[in-house]
Amino acid sequence: MAKSENIVWHDSKVTKENRRGLNKHKSAVIWFTGLSGSGKSTVSVELEKELYSHGVRTYRLDGDNVRHGLNKNLGFSPEDRKENIRRIGEVSKLMVDAGLFTLSAFISPYREDRDEVRELVEDGEFIEVFVDASVETCESRDPKGLYKKARAGEIKGFTGIDAPYEEPRNPEVTIDTDKLTLEESVQKIVSYLKEKGYLE
Ligand code: PPS
Repeated sequence: MAKSENIVWHDSKVTKENRRGLNKHKSAVIWFTGLSGSGKSTVSVELEKELYSHGVRTYRLDGDNVRHGLNKNLGFSPEDRKENIRRIGEVSKLMVDAGLFTLSAFISPYREDRDEVRELVEDGEFIEVFVDASVETCESRDPKGLYKKARAGEIKGFTGIDAPYEEPRNPEVTIDTDKLTLEESVQKIVSYLKEKGYLE
């Protein structure tokens, strides 16, 4: 028997549209994907600050943080990464339903897993931001010393070294953090949001 059998969806009397109306803005998930050290967290933190200054309600979900709580029972095997992204996708969807701009920053190395999150929400509610930095650049930054450990064989299955990263084929926004400053990266996303009518 499927686990969701005999369970009936219960509608609320306050809808996503009602909540968006109170907030006076739309809601969507801004999904950052890229290698470890590419700048996902840094850019999402600055973008959240910028959105807040425009009166936009947000919530940020981040790989390191979520793995301390909700997903602390998951590792880095392909199956666990898939489950990690599936759960984050469901949480992101709830937050979009709550009327928030959700900034989700995860390596999310598999295209199929990211596309499943895209399918989970409605059209226009998934904004994929590819934080594009080469392995060489990320390895030279190595902010947590993890590439060094991976090269030394102390971490197995490290993304970009001995585990794959599948680049998005058609992301809504690409940020080349090799070339753009942090401010330019944030402005590129804000411009996209304005151009597409997410923000005034
Ligand atoms: S994933 O692939 O989306 O499930 O990963 P995510 O939840 O974003 O977690 C990535 C952070 O975990 C640390 N870490 C690893 N990354 C990649 N591969 C392996 N094997 C690994 N082990 C630990 C690393 O600090 C990642 O953080 P970021 O912020 O990306 O550098």
